[in-house]
Amino acid sequence: MRMFVAAVLATAIILPAANAAAGPIEDRQAIMKGNGRDTKMGGDMLKGATPFDAATANKILANYAAAAKAFPTHFPAGSNTGDTEASSAIWSMPADWKIATDKFQKDTAAAAAMKPATAADFGKAFGMVTANCKSCHEGFRVKKG
Ligand code: HEC
Repeated sequence: MRMFVAAVLATAIILPAANAAAGPIEDRQAIMKGNGRDTKMGGDMLKGATPFDAATANKILANYAAAAKAFPTHFPAGSNTGDTEASSAIWSMPADWKIATDKFQKDTAAAAAMKPATAADFGKAFGMVTANCKSCHEGFRVKKG
C-alpha cells in the first residue's frame, strides 16, 4: 500500500498539471488516432464518398505535418511497456527509428507545402504521406489482437 501511494505521488509530480490523466503512451496514441481520422476523411474524399473540399484537404495535410513533428517526442525511456503497440525496435534501433520519423516529417511538410487545389493534386500529396503509415507500422508497430 505504501508503495502504491508513493507511485501515485511520483506520477502526479512528473506529469504536467494540464495533462494529469495522460502519459506518453496515451499522447502518442492520440496523435495516431488523429492520423487515422484524417486518413479516413481524406480517403473518403478521394474515393468520392464525400465531395472534395480544398480547405479540408489542406487542413488534413497540415494536421499530418503537425502530427509528424510531435509524434517522436512521446517515446521516453520506460514507455516501451504497458498498453502500447510500439515495437521494442524503437528503443533498440534508434537510428532506424530516426530515419522513419525524419522521413515522415519531410514527406508531410512537402505534402502540406503542395497546397493542393484539386482532388488529383490532393491524391498525390495524400499518397506521399500515407506510404509512411504502412512502412513505419511494418517496422515499428506490433499490432495487438
Ligand atoms: C514513424 C512511424 C509511424 C508513422 C509514419 C505512422 N505511424 Fe501510426 N503508429 C506508429 C506506432 C509506433 C504506433 C503504436 C503507438 C503505441 O501504441 O504506443 C502507431 C499506432 C497507430 C494507430 C493506433 C492508435 C491507437 O492506439 O488507437 C493508428 C490508427 C495509426 N497508427 C494510424 C496511422 C496513420 C493513418 C498513419 C499515416 C498517416 C500513421 N499511423 C503513420 C508509428 C507510425
